[in-house]
Amino acid sequence: MLIDIITIFPEVCEPYLNSSILGIAQEKGKLEIRLHNLRDYTLDKHRKVDDRPFGGGPGMILTPEPVFRAVEHINQISKPKNKTKAKIILLTPQGKTLNQKLAEKLSKREHLILICGRYEGVDERVRESLVNEEISIGDYILSGGELAALVLTDSLTRLLPGVLGHKDSNVRESFSDNLLEYPQYTRPADFRGMGVPRVLLSGDHKKIEEWRRAQTIKITKKKRPDLLKNTINFKKI
Ligand code: ADE
Repeated sequence: MLIDIITIFPEVCEPYLNSSILGIAQEKGKLEIRLHNLRDYTLDKHRKVDDRPFGGGPGMILTPEPVFRAVEHINQISKPKNKTKAKIILLTPQGKTLNQKLAEKLSKREHLILICGRYEGVDERVRESLVNEEISIGDYILSGGELAALVLTDSLTRLLPGVLGHKDSNVRESFSDNLLEYPQYTRPADFRGMGVPRVLLSGDHKKIEEWRRAQTIKITKKKRPDLLKNTINFKKI
């Protein structure tokens, strides 16, 4: 998968993108991430990316020119490599809220271009004529789309074939998306007088599986009952 990220803060994104699973995925050749500084696509000597809104009002708006030019440049350099057209995503609180289902859908794409919004917003013509999808990471306002782009990239990378170990992907598949994780314990079996559920030490894998399944349902019911409402699993509970 190829992910291009357009931002005015590439240096903020870089360390996270090169760490942990994301770094490993790139080393393994499962993922390529290219960071683009929006200022590199400006046409003036001050490298200005924003301006005041027509009609007045607070804040500054990202101008369309550098955003369009960045996407055009990316499409140009990607043409020989890619069979399918890139999906262009704007990270904005106005977008569709990211969830595991959406991450799974997007992880199947060959190429994504992520545009990080900033300031009070982005010129509407970017939305109208360039962007294919708008995505939000939750109903709160961040200072820009960078954290959202990192969250999205992280969630997609974990789903790419061959990125996580075989064991992890099995776990993911055995519990459908709408349920929370069962409790996990590691050594020591007795920590300051606090024990571990006996079944986990029993070595009986069938019993452990049943216990985990029951815990998953119990925890989801308690912490996120909303997740159970629309899931097929609910009928089985
Ligand atoms: N930009 C600012 N806030 C955001 C959010 N909640 N999700 C995605 N992009 C954003």
